Amino acid sequence: MIFKYSINTLKYIFITLFILSFSFPAYSELSVEEIIKGRKALFSKNYSTAKKVQNLASKGDFEKAKNLMLEMSENYIILIDYFPENTKEGFKTESLPIIWEEKENFNKLMTKASTDMAELSKIIEDSDDIKGTLGKLMWSNCKACHSKYRKEH
Ligand code: HEC
Repeated sequence: MIFKYSINTLKYIFITLFILSFSFPAYSELSVEEIIKGRKALFSKNYSTAKKVQNLASKGDFEKAKNLMLEMSENYIILIDYFPENTKEGFKTESLPIIWEEKENFNKLMTKASTDMAELSKIIEDSDDIKGTLGKLMWSNCKACHSKYRKEH
């Protein structure tokens, strides 16, 4: 009797798990909330990394600075996928709707920001004007994009 009972219990558990596995979304699909919060976190991270880059390069610590430049470069490429159509509003997004009207141009700016960081990592050591080069290849890209595609904050 006890044996029979536990088989039935197991059956019940397996059937329940089987049904549940279809009623939850796949884990690889991020929710709107996760996407918006995810891109904010990546931008914030890039900002703190950019400040570190500025510090390290000014001190002449180029090896560390270069690694961080390449990390920022990669993050920009990742960010391109963080703006799907269904993430235009909510969760305190500062993204403006014009992003999706001019997606091609927006992506172009993101790609330029990425390639400029890679370029920066190649030339920074031989630059005569560290601050000026960081301004041109790092900071100017933030402003170029924010002035058009990010809300006033
Ligand atoms: C190609 C466009 C683009 C570039 C380049 C870019 N940003 Fe942004 N940034 C955005 C957008 C769009 C948002 C708004 C994201 C949201 O709230 O959905 C944003 C948001 C931010 C935020 C706020 C994140 C939060 O927690 O709300 C910070 C900080 C930031 N960016 C810093 C930078 C810095 C620093 C750079 C340059 C080193 C930079 N960004 C380059 C488009 C860009």
